[in-house]
Amino acid sequence: QRNPVAKLLLFGATGDLAQRMLLPSLYNLHADGLLAPGLTITGSARSDLDDAGYRKFAREALDHYLPDDRKQAKTIASFLDRLSYQPADLSDEKTYQPLADKVGDVSGGLAIFLSTAPSLFEPAVKGLAAVGLAGDTVRIGLEKPLGYDLASSREINDTVARVFPEDRIFRIDHYLGKETVQNILALRFGNSFFEPVWNARGIDNVQITVAETVGLEDRASYYDGAGALRDMVANHMLQLVALIAMEPPARFDTSAIRDEKAKVFRSLRQMKPEEVPHNTVIGQYLGGAVNGAIVKGYDEELGRDSNTETFVAVKAHVDNWRWQGVPFYLRTGKRMTARRSEIAIQFKPVPHSMFAGRGGLLQPNMLIIRLQPEEYIQLLVMAKEPGLDRDGIRLREVPLNLSLDAEFAGTRRRIAYERLLLDLIEGDQTLFVRRDEVEAQWTWIDAIRAGWTANDMKPKHYPAGTWGPSAAIALTERDGVTWQDD
Ligand code: BG6
Repeated sequence: QRNPVAKLLLFGATGDLAQRMLLPSLYNLHADGLLAPGLTITGSARSDLDDAGYRKFAREALDHYLPDDRKQAKTIASFLDRLSYQPADLSDEKTYQPLADKVGDVSGGLAIFLSTAPSLFEPAVKGLAAVGLAGDTVRIGLEKPLGYDLASSREINDTVARVFPEDRIFRIDHYLGKETVQNILALRFGNSFFEPVWNARGIDNVQITVAETVGLEDRASYYDGAGALRDMVANHMLQLVALIAMEPPARFDTSAIRDEKAKVFRSLRQMKPEEVPHNTVIGQYLGGAVNGAIVKGYDEELGRDSNTETFVAVKAHVDNWRWQGVPFYLRTGKRMTARRSEIAIQFKPVPHSMFAGRGGLLQPNMLIIRLQPEEYIQLLVMAKEPGLDRDGIRLREVPLNLSLDAEFAGTRRRIAYERLLLDLIEGDQTLFVRRDEVEAQWTWIDAIRAGWTANDMKPKHYPAGTWGPSAAIALTERDGVTWQDD
């Protein structure tokens, strides 16, 4: 199934993502012997650099972003040998022929990675096709955002589809490159004891939190036009929902997995405008203290007033047989108390407590899948507290712990892009997002945004360093559910 290409062409090669993630990831793949010896990497961006200039740029990026124990001078030198550079202005037709000349023969396969603004996708694919860089041996990777609503994402997809067939388009959602996210599949489908309770009979609710402590991070022009719903829920968080909610695929193969995820997206309950205020909460951070540091509020950081949400909480439903009546509570925000991505699955309480009146209160079991910063799985169970209580036995909730960090200590924690770049180079689409997935995601997201507009909903303020506006707490409390906050 794997079919490695001989060349990689990286657009956006001097951008922030390239420096922080892509170059270090490619270096790690190189250092681990995972790239074919002959694989060459051509970087391209607007900056006027030559090969030597780009190698210097890459060296600095590696120096800055690689941990010290990964920096081996000889390995860095041999990695830089793979790199070359061609300046390009993707909006200019004349840019493409010199690019094609630089890349040269693509009969051994070429993978292109477009880490650029989506407004450049259209001229890029047209220009590439015009100079023969889009034939059968060429595949293309697309970085988000893939549009800002259904219509714009369709436009992007249509544009790219005029040049590349779906089986050569690799849409990136970097959450799918994370080990802990792939581990959800291992946990659910590599073990027998979760599946019988993994449904509305066994599960009361699912909570997914992706909390960040960072704020705008020099991304004002993108972020203020996007907001938390589009930036995080429309892609990463919905992928997590899909992995939790999907039916067992018959095989670990590309279509089997993507088919099941797509079915989940299509089963998301579409909100009517009047239901949106009841099922969503939006927030925007004010100044406050995060991890002991005083930070500015969003408007101040931005330099103007804005109604963009930096926090969103949503009560979602997957309308199918398995999940009927089980709320999926999602929340994500910037400038929150702590950086934490986690899925908490709360099981149904026992049907009858024989301990009633004769011991501690029974807490329903909870499975916690911590994705970051730590990587662990915790099952909260009731256990007997040691002691000679005369009125019964005292129970307490205790965690059954599996620390993936400890269990696999000594294994380097990889950057999500290592997996994705390797799969792009080798042509495995399993961890990339198919067109119908993206479009089903936007369909659901658009309905929420339409509800915000129809109801003139504005973000509620929350102080930086908190878990978001209090309304987000009310969102679950009125269902008798409390967010899992340690
Ligand atoms: C990106 C978003 O897709 O994911 C960012 O655009 C966000 O706003 C980032 O900070 C979070 O990724 P991670 O891997 O740090 O959880």
